[in-house]
Amino acid sequence: MRKMRFLLCFLSILSLFSTGVDSQMALKGCQETCGGVNISYPFGIGENCARNTSFLVNCSKDANGEKPYLRSWEIVNIELESGEITVNTEVSSTCGDEMNIIDLTDRPLSFSENNKLTATGCATNAFLPDGVGCSSLCSSLEDVTNNTCFGTGCCEISINKGLKIFNASIITYDITAENTSNCSYAFLAKENRFNFTTDFLIKREWTMLVEYLLDFAVDDCGPNANANKSATGFGNFCSCLRGFEGNPYTPDGCTDINECEDPTLNICSKDCVNTPGSFKCTDNSRNLIIIVSCLSGGIFFVLLGGIIFFFYKKSKIIQMKKLRSENFKQNYKLLEQTLIMSSHENTAENTKFFSFNELEKATGQFDRARIIGEGGHGTVYKGLLLDQRVAAIKMSKVTTQTEKEEYINEAALLSRTYHKNVVKVLGCCLESAVPTLVYEYIANGTLSEHLHSPDNPSSLGWDDRLRIASEVASAIVYLLSASSNTIFHRDLKSANILLDEKLTAKLSDFGASKSISSDQTHITATVQGTIGYLDPEYYQSGKLTEKSDVYSFGVILVELLTGKKPISKYINAEEGSVIIYFIKLLREGQVDLLFDQSIMDDSIKDDLGVVAKLAGECLRLRGEDRPTMKEVESTLEGVRRSKNKKAKGINHEEEHQRLLSDQMKMVSGNENWSTTATSDNSQPPISTSKSFLR
Ligand SMILES: *[C@@H]1O[C@H](CO)[C@@H](O)[C@H](O)[C@H]1NC(C)=O
Ligand SMILES: *[C@@H]1O[C@H](CO)[C@@H](O)[C@H](O)[C@H]1NC(C)=O
Ligand SMILES: *[C@@H]1O[C@H](CO)[C@@H](O)[C@H](O)[C@H]1NC(C)=O
Ligand SMILES: *[C@@H]1O[C@H](CO)[C@@H](O)[C@H](O)[C@H]1NC(C)=O
Ligand SMILES: *[C@@H]1O[C@H](CO)[C@@H](O)[C@H](O)[C@H]1NC(C)=O
Ligand SMILES: *[C@@H]1O[C@H](CO)[C@@H](O)[C@H](O)[C@H]1NC(C)=O
Ligand SMILES: *[C@@H]1O[C@H](CO)[C@@H](O)[C@H](O)[C@H]1NC(C)=O
Ligand SMILES: *[C@@H]1O[C@H](CO)[C@@H](O)[C@H](O)[C@H]1NC(C)=O
Ligand SMILES: *[C@@H]1O[C@H](CO)[C@@H](O)[C@H](O)[C@H]1NC(C)=O
Repeated sequence: MRKMRFLLCFLSILSLFSTGVDSQMALKGCQETCGGVNISYPFGIGENCARNTSFLVNCSKDANGEKPYLRSWEIVNIELESGEITVNTEVSSTCGDEMNIIDLTDRPLSFSENNKLTATGCATNAFLPDGVGCSSLCSSLEDVTNNTCFGTGCCEISINKGLKIFNASIITYDITAENTSNCSYAFLAKENRFNFTTDFLIKREWTMLVEYLLDFAVDDCGPNANANKSATGFGNFCSCLRGFEGNPYTPDGCTDINECEDPTLNICSKDCVNTPGSFKCTDNSRNLIIIVSCLSGGIFFVLLGGIIFFFYKKSKIIQMKKLRSENFKQNYKLLEQTLIMSSHENTAENTKFFSFNELEKATGQFDRARIIGEGGHGTVYKGLLLDQRVAAIKMSKVTTQTEKEEYINEAALLSRTYHKNVVKVLGCCLESAVPTLVYEYIANGTLSEHLHSPDNPSSLGWDDRLRIASEVASAIVYLLSASSNTIFHRDLKSANILLDEKLTAKLSDFGASKSISSDQTHITATVQGTIGYLDPEYYQSGKLTEKSDVYSFGVILVELLTGKKPISKYINAEEGSVIIYFIKLLREGQVDLLFDQSIMDDSIKDDLGVVAKLAGECLRLRGEDRPTMKEVESTLEGVRRSKNKKAKGINHEEEHQRLLSDQMKMVSGNENWSTTATSDNSQPPISTSKSFLR
């Protein structure tokens, strides 16, 4: 009997969490389904069955049977609980001549944020008026894979909440990819419900159905229902109060659930009385017993918990020590393996190991106030080591094997890399599950912060930018060639370039980097990197070469020249993808329109032109068309040298010009890229940047 009551007690607690019965229904006397779709109120078939004409559904019959329509949308599903309906829309080809504008302004509907703006095409930028947009590129059909929508042939991006007007602008650049129609499309599609196919790029005249979601809202809900503000900011969607069921939109509202009829919904063994939204057990002595059993049960659990907690605490310290030494052993082994694999020598002895205790002290128990950087995977703390050196301490947030390998990889790599423009690793701690890395502390933030901080725009002049570019290039060249192994950074971006007090560049964050023996030219690796900086060719093929870093470096050059982020939200559609726009202007000879106004000066115009052209070459779609990092480095060095000469007064304008044009020849003279057959040699290189982060 006691056991039974415990069970009942438990059940009654459970029933508090269970939700009401889901039910979909039309008004009485109205047609309930059409073509297999439940038409629930506020929607309805016929004047008197819909809440008002905005919700009027037309059940239309044709040769294939019935289909419900709301205006011109075919309804696929009505979901009362989330206030959403799924509709099918026709994506039809007008080959970019005319855009569908869907205006929901005077309807109780909006586009759900669970839709994606989707665009297809081979040189296409698509934007909504609020600046959300994405770009898609390809140079031939071979670049494109069915069912992927990551910026090659197809791109997609989440839209903002409460969108009422779908009015996408498409900008198609005049770049013909082989064997494709030059049609671009932009439309909304339900997340994960759109399968891209090459048909979009080939066919000129066709239609297909794509599903998307609409949120609906009403002004007021029926009785016994919650009115929840709809995501769109206008109107409400409705749900039944606890203990009630039915359709919360109907004038009758939700109806009471009779808990007494269902033994799983009440705890009374006898004498149950239903009340609105709940129930009562009239047998008070039984109630008392139930309350007492609940209480005694509760006390028992609290006591048990206390005892467990006590022992847990006691053993935790012992466990922790054991765990740390286990971690150390495991990680040390992994580090040894990594070192031997990559350099055929074991330099683990040269690596300094910190104890976890020391790092705890250095960071004040990992005090949040000491955080100087935080990403999705790791946190960087500023700390004071025992020997009074200031250090940046990077700790992982997630414990996975991949993460472990990345941290070990970085420790192994940096422990045998010495270059004045590469951040130094002071050592690591292997006692945490994922090793913790200790770097020299670089005081002046990242290049990205210097370029894009809204507080101090353009704190860097052109001289500094050019020097930083050249320093980073020399660090990459060193990584590529100076050691017995080739190292690909794989995640080059301005946020990974640190600046010290003298604004000297220090390349950092080698977690993703790969090291291969020098006789290999490429490896196949899972794609890693940052959208916007990622080499589209590598993205597509997974084939990692030196040229992937060259591409990312090209993006950094564009950032230095324009002061703009490679991916950002712009109201001006033309500027949406800075990289595409940059290349377009470069080709039209107008790239100076995009240069950062704060560094513009007649005396450096030629330098900017050379660097812009260099960036354009780095951003070529095909890796083989790009210059090597060594060529990039010497071009930049050349620009600096000629600049210095000029500054020292040796100058004659001609000499400067001659030096510059030498540099240009050097870049252009490389037959690797100038004569290879892209579809059309006069076409500009084009690069892809996936989409705009929001
Ligand atoms: C339609 O409603 C009935 C009961 O009202 C339910 O059994 C059925 O699963 C619903 N169909 C769909 C597609 O939701
Ligand atoms: C319902 O839809 C069909 C086809 O779309 C149309 O021919 C018919 O006129 C519509 N009926 C009403 C009442 O709107
Ligand atoms: C759609 O966008 C275009 C260009 O952005 C604009 O000229 C037009 O007025 C917009 N139409 C509507 C209905 O908002
Ligand atoms: C383009 O089409 C032609 C003729 O159908 C074919 O020979 C050629 O290989 C195609 N090119 C590509 C890149 O698919
Ligand atoms: C591309 O589009 C333009 C106009 O939009 C058209 O004149 C041209 O013929 C098209 N090119 C191809 C290859 O379809
Ligand atoms: C997309 O493809 C998957 C399998 O590849 C299929 O299950 C799904 O139904 C397709 N979706 C649409 C909307 O065609
Ligand atoms: C991609 O899908 C289209 C249309 O379904 C098909 O014709 C084409 O062969 C597919 N391509 C590949 C590589 O599977
Ligand atoms: C229909 O009802 C909705 C919500 O109650 C309201 O926003 C809308 O204006 C109404 N439409 C018409 C045509 O009355
Ligand atoms: C609706 O609002 C109520 C309170 O007003 C809240 O408890 C409930 O979680 C909300 N439901 C949804 C689906 O947001």
